Amino acid sequence: MLSTGKPLPASTRESSPVANGFEKPMPSLTQNGTRLKFPAGFLWGTATAPTQVEGHIHNEWTDFTAQDGSSCRVACDSYHRYAEDIEWMSKLSVNSYRFGIEWSRLQSAPFAPLNQNELARYVDQLDRLIAADITPMVVLHHFSNPPWINAAGGWTNAPTIPAFVDYVGKLVSALKDRVYLWNTFNEPDTYAGLAYVLGGFPPQRKWKLGQFRRVITHMARAHEQASRIIRERGHGRRKPEVGIAKNWTFFHAYKKFSPWDRLSASLCHYSFNKFVLDAFLGGGRRNASTFIGLNYYGRVRFHHFNAMIPASGASETRLKDFGFVCDDMLERYPKGLGKILPYLQRKFRLPIYITEHGAASADEKFRERDLLNYLTVLHGAIEQGADVRGFFYWSLLDNFEWQFGYSKKFGLIGVDFSDAALPRTMKPLGEIYREVCSRNTLGH
Ligand code: FCB
Repeated sequence: MLSTGKPLPASTRESSPVANGFEKPMPSLTQNGTRLKFPAGFLWGTATAPTQVEGHIHNEWTDFTAQDGSSCRVACDSYHRYAEDIEWMSKLSVNSYRFGIEWSRLQSAPFAPLNQNELARYVDQLDRLIAADITPMVVLHHFSNPPWINAAGGWTNAPTIPAFVDYVGKLVSALKDRVYLWNTFNEPDTYAGLAYVLGGFPPQRKWKLGQFRRVITHMARAHEQASRIIRERGHGRRKPEVGIAKNWTFFHAYKKFSPWDRLSASLCHYSFNKFVLDAFLGGGRRNASTFIGLNYYGRVRFHHFNAMIPASGASETRLKDFGFVCDDMLERYPKGLGKILPYLQRKFRLPIYITEHGAASADEKFRERDLLNYLTVLHGAIEQGADVRGFFYWSLLDNFEWQFGYSKKFGLIGVDFSDAALPRTMKPLGEIYREVCSRNTLGH
């Protein structure tokens, strides 16, 4: 059996066929009058990624056809409609926005000067956010690269590191008066896993474990170097903060005593959680980050080698028969948030931002329960001492969900993709989230 190094914290070892924190209804905060106040200055935000919302992009996703036959070519057209999207953010009462700046728009070759027109558009977006009292958190890499990086082997190729660091240095010098929160890499584990092991993302390679490891190792080195540059050159109005966004998924065996399912869960935990966390934050690398970004959605349980989640094709009826509560992607596991936050806090002693959480479903009541459950657990973890500074709902808009296309509805704001005008509308969950953000409190 593959060793996972040091014993896992008890919190990541637990496997129970029932309890996930969703079965027992959480106290209905809006009904019993409980009020849970969050710390002063807490950032309440939403999140997006360039490929998923901007449209008119030239990277490896441009010619990619998703499972629903769609592409990202127009997406939400936020490239042109960012001013309107910021108005929607104001309607949501968020005070922060986590979004990506697309490298392929800004450099046409390694070490080239930044494209000034494209830079001006991002500067305008930042100025409008700041004018609306919305603090930007900028993501530097979110599952996409310029074509000339991909043509040379992407992140399997070591020279990608200095090219990226050069880009980051130029961008940070240009934006330091407007941005102090920098997210270098979004979910390197998901990116490397889907692109080189599971085949879901371009270049759609399968079981290339050596390439998976190389991508992670190169990105971790790039993170360390980019962080140094951000701290050296990024001091504008505020001291810069820098970190990655680590996706954390719990992997468990459905039946505690099934050795093969336990092995599958351990292998996934080792590859996607432990190995990646160690690469980016282990040993001296911990000092490269001033915060940890945590993307937390839930868990995956294995049954006879099958990952029992909708995203892997498990049917709704089958999952119901097992008693699993899932959105259109993953099993919900709010309790897990109460385990991973203290674990990260103890291990790294760095402030944490929840850089993503959200649920995809057409059932808004389900999404409301999901949000209240996760935020209740988050509040409890903060009370217990976790230094969490913000929460970013995934996502501002319904958008292009990578290999699944437009079929997964994560937005607080709906987008009608059947109408060429792409009209936006506030969803019921947007109204609920607005209450939370504007009061910095859960419940009335
Ligand atoms: C995360 C990604 C984000 C989006 C959500 C649903 O893994 O960072 O782009 O796909 O999942």
